[in-house]
Amino acid sequence: MDILLYIICTILFLFTIITTLKIIELKNIEYKKPEILSGKRILTVYYSNGSNTKNVAQNLHSIMGGDIKEIELTENYPKNIFKMSNLVRKQIKEGYLPKIEEIDISDYDVIFVGTPIWNFSISLPVKAFLKNNNFENKILIPFFTYSGGTCKNKILNEFKDYTNVKEVKKPLSMFENGIFMVKEQIIKWLNNEIY
Ligand SMILES: Cc1cc2nc3c(=O)[nH]c(=O)nc-3n(C[C@H](O)[C@H](O)[C@H](O)COP(=O)(O)O)c2cc1C
Repeated sequence: MDILLYIICTILFLFTIITTLKIIELKNIEYKKPEILSGKRILTVYYSNGSNTKNVAQNLHSIMGGDIKEIELTENYPKNIFKMSNLVRKQIKEGYLPKIEEIDISDYDVIFVGTPIWNFSISLPVKAFLKNNNFENKILIPFFTYSGGTCKNKILNEFKDYTNVKEVKKPLSMFENGIFMVKEQIIKWLNNEIY
């Protein structure tokens, strides 16, 4: 019993230290728009079945400016999560991509694209968006939200495979809706990866 209490206290102590260090690291972080984005027309596009990716997209948009658009399906997925997951599994197996409302990206130079992770992969509506559009001469910058596990490099390669874009920047990955200091986490990623 004493050992169990000791282990719990140690874990709580370490958790507090790590969280405090994270807060110190993120506090007062500032964003300076890099050369490659200055004067560029920026669009943030996202799909969100819940609201996690939407939350990250809205925070990103408030930092970057430009326009923001949500990918909308012509036919929504079932609200019941089990029915929805079964349908997604079936669609993945059949190589089916859902029909989405058209989004015109021709007026933009830089496209941030946000997706939830579905079955360790980009969500099907975002795959449809990537397939439907011409990314030649665009800068594509992905971000995604997840709740269990995924592999950043796999997602990065999928963005390359689904488009004709020359370069894809390293994605921002966020657990659920970002949980805390979302804007600061986004700025840290922008400063480190998007230059
Ligand atoms: C059909 C389906 C499959 C999912 N597969 C994964 C997965 O493979 N890995 C993971 O970490 N999260 C997975 N999730 C969880 C979502 O990626 C996560 O909750 C995400 O933040 C949801 O974003 P949203 O609220 O914008 O839809 C899955 C969710 C759904 C609905």
